[in-house]
Amino acid sequence: MTFTRLTLTTACAAVAAVAGVLIATPLLPTVHAGQPVPADFTGVTAPAPVPVDTSALQDSQSLAPYVPTPQEVVDRMLQLAEVGPDDVVYDLGSGDGRIPISAARDYGARGVGVDIDPERVAEANANARREGVSDRVSFILGDAMATDVSDATVVTLYLLSSSNLKLRPILTNQLAAGARIVSHAFSMGDWEADSVETFNDSRGNPRTLYFWRFDGQPRP
Ligand SMILES: C[S@@+](CC[C@H](N)C(=O)[O-])C[C@H]1O[C@@H](n2cnc3c(N)ncnc32)[C@H](O)[C@@H]1O
Repeated sequence: MTFTRLTLTTACAAVAAVAGVLIATPLLPTVHAGQPVPADFTGVTAPAPVPVDTSALQDSQSLAPYVPTPQEVVDRMLQLAEVGPDDVVYDLGSGDGRIPISAARDYGARGVGVDIDPERVAEANANARREGVSDRVSFILGDAMATDVSDATVVTLYLLSSSNLKLRPILTNQLAAGARIVSHAFSMGDWEADSVETFNDSRGNPRTLYFWRFDGQPRP
């Protein structure tokens, strides 16, 4: 499956360069707000986005710029978490929805994505429809910091270390013991991961995946 990938803005590229680990996938045409998603690889043109009230998001802070995780890395994240049909997989900052969609399509899980950007949520919904998993995947336009994740059995992250740290008290207060967390590229302060997987992707870019199995201990 191929997903629409968006051109990184200069700002995103700058953040990625500073972070040193958010590595962009190849550049593809930018999709602008208010335009239908182009019928490129899918043959399907998504309906024009319905205007949404984003006033509730005004106080939200950006936890990371949009940089999609390459599909091969998504696959390894889901394998690392041993996702199965009984899982509810939350991706906080879900971009084009590829992680929840892959969890539903490839492992029969339920998927939930949360993103602060209405354009990303519209794109994710279109992708879920195209992949035939709309009945098992939902996307929330909202702030990950204000999202109830208590029914998640797996949480995936591709944010920043500072953002993971902000989410840490929320995750460790709400998740049930045994929930799994996988973070692409970024650790979570002094909460040592149960395992760290490093590898080069097919383009030769180094990748790191952090895995925690939550022990039920709240962490500030
Ligand atoms: C690095 S991208 C990761 C996208 C996707 N998870 C993936 O791995 O392909 C980070 C995403 O987080 C979203 N984001 C940033 N701040 C957020 C917030 N406060 N709440 C929800 N989403 C946020 C951005 O819009 C962007 O889509």
